[in-house]
Amino acid sequence: MFTMALSKGRLLDKTVEFLARAGIDVPEDILSSRRLIAPDATGSYQFLLVKPMDLPTYVEYGVAAAGICGRDVLLEVSPDLHQPLDLKFGRCRLVLAGKAGDTVEKHNLLSTTRVATKYPRVAERFFRSRGLPAEVIYLSGSVELAPNLGLAETIVDLVETGRTLAENGLVALEEIAESSARVVINRASFHIQYAEVQEFLGKLRKALE
Ligand code: PRP
Repeated sequence: MFTMALSKGRLLDKTVEFLARAGIDVPEDILSSRRLIAPDATGSYQFLLVKPMDLPTYVEYGVAAAGICGRDVLLEVSPDLHQPLDLKFGRCRLVLAGKAGDTVEKHNLLSTTRVATKYPRVAERFFRSRGLPAEVIYLSGSVELAPNLGLAETIVDLVETGRTLAENGLVALEEIAESSARVVINRASFHIQYAEVQEFLGKLRKALE
């Protein structure tokens, strides 16, 4: 069986839709129940449902041979994995956001600015690249609250439609990176399960045409 990890949350519906187009059917019971692991009807595939940030770990440790996750996660986790395909869906941006009128330069070299984020490594790299001292405050969600409550001046977060920023009175100040769904493959599986991996990638490539 070829084990594939799927990201719960924003990418899941689009991932299932894309896999169906590739001729890989994720079983209903893993989508509608609380089950976190299930095989497909043919017995060729097995699916794991995992938290997006954990997905690279499952694939790196070889518990799953492959996975589909956002580039945002890969930028944060920097896993040692093959990343052979951009699936083009789930497009969004990682941005620095804050109150309208704010700029990165406003946070001068003499004072340490605070940034709240689910992406601490991405945020750290961004501020370091600007030579600006920043204290990164890790949050696991609802990050958009931080600037309004004075927890941080800015946030680093994903923006898809822009609705969450707008409804919380924030604007994107700078784009840090673009993201979309990526296929990741365990390095050992790439060789040990060569035929299965190639068959899997072939199906995905066809669905992308
Ligand atoms: C993400 C992200 C933003 C929001 C952006 O959060 O962290 O909060 O979606 O989407 P939008 O631009 O379409 O409004 P998610 O929905 O994953 O929830 P979370 O805050 O609980 O992590």
